Amino acid sequence: MAKLETLTALDIGTSKVVCAIVEFSRDGEVDIVAKGVHHCRGLSGGALIDCAATVEAIERAVSEAEKSGYTVGNVVVGVSSENLTSRYSQGTVAVSGLDQEITKEDINRVLGASRQVGVPAGSEILMVVPRGFAVDGQRGIVNPESLIGNRLEAEAYACLATSAHLQNIRNAVGKAGLDIYDKGLVPAALASSLAVLTEEEKALGVMMVDIGLGTSDLAIYSENEIAYSRVCAMGGGLLALDVAKSFNISQAEAEGLILEEGLAGPQYLQGQEGKQLTVQSVSGDVKVTLTKRELAEVIEARIDELGEWIKEQMETARERLDLNVSGVVLTGGASQLLGMPQKLHALLGAPVRVAAPCYPARLPQSLASPIYSTVVGLLIYGVTCLPQSEERSKKTGNYSMSWVQCAAEWLNKVF
Ligand SMILES: Nc1ncnc2c1ncn2[C@@H]1O[C@H](COP(=O)(O)OP(=O)(O)OP(=O)(O)O)[C@@H](O)[C@H]1O
Ligand SMILES: [Mg+2]
Repeated sequence: MAKLETLTALDIGTSKVVCAIVEFSRDGEVDIVAKGVHHCRGLSGGALIDCAATVEAIERAVSEAEKSGYTVGNVVVGVSSENLTSRYSQGTVAVSGLDQEITKEDINRVLGASRQVGVPAGSEILMVVPRGFAVDGQRGIVNPESLIGNRLEAEAYACLATSAHLQNIRNAVGKAGLDIYDKGLVPAALASSLAVLTEEEKALGVMMVDIGLGTSDLAIYSENEIAYSRVCAMGGGLLALDVAKSFNISQAEAEGLILEEGLAGPQYLQGQEGKQLTVQSVSGDVKVTLTKRELAEVIEARIDELGEWIKEQMETARERLDLNVSGVVLTGGASQLLGMPQKLHALLGAPVRVAAPCYPARLPQSLASPIYSTVVGLLIYGVTCLPQSEERSKKTGNYSMSWVQCAAEWLNKVF
């Protein structure tokens, strides 16, 4: 029997590499059929600091996924690093026809103009997403073809990254024996957003923050499309480092302590102020005793700092780009810290929810955790936005339309 087509996503995170495979089945469904996870310590703050360790983690995650019987060849890969930044660009053209009816050619010209983003030396454009059109100042136009007007404008979001960072990721994936799809490098913030944001949130204006071990990836959606993204090298790893330094314990011990007893601040202790915690000292021969309140106070200081950064991004987006942020959606492992949504709600003054990935079709239970939002989003991106193979496009009509719900308009709009 002929093999069915598959697509693979790779999330190279600071704590782990995740490989997930979807299969395009004959009955029109798109199912996640395999997952492999391997811990990774080859990155710091999103940047590659140990290529060999990263390659090994990729190979191990892929071979775990391949135990399912599926083979991995090409992959969609998430990119996250402090050097990723976004630009909001606009293009304007005069409508060319004498009858002032906007044609496809006018649209192509204005999209071309909106993609003229100033790229600093050493950087490259990772992705451009058109956000919408305006005709004679009338904004919010989805498809201006056949409308009458003099001036056609287009807005676009562009994500930029340093070439060196992208090349490091390409090299590590290549050394692991894999090829990246053309247009298969995707900002992790955009991927996670695809997996956790609802259509209503994207329409109203929303901020998504994926708080992992080494980075916090932030994206702002407004009027249905991504408009802004940033990454900061702050995540659960810094919380563990702060706790390790404060109590002279190892980082591994601190990570375990945060997982077991961590809180986003002492106000969430709920009667456990005096609870005594005992852990091993860094030398391993002495027991260290601390109260749960002391632990919460150390964690809170760093969360305040992260909250300040998120607030700055929110204000920048509001002031410079006039974006509406009606709420905040948190995902990523560290978003699960007890009290995190309440704490950020207090700091940001906007409603906050914590989300696990929502997959358009059937999401296996083993992926239903905020730590898998990026990999699930990469699959959604791959299925809905990458050019389809000849075999698959013949059958497109058969595939479940539910897949496309998350990123419907994207299919023809990206790039
Ligand atoms: N239930 C939990 N409560 C608190 N923190 C948690 C929980 N589960 C995981 N974490 C923390 O989440 C972090 C790992 O998150 P995640 O798996 O999203 O990171 P990553 O994707 O590997 O890294 P990054 O995206 O930063 O490159 C670690 O700091 C871990 O301690
Ligand atoms: Mg991550």
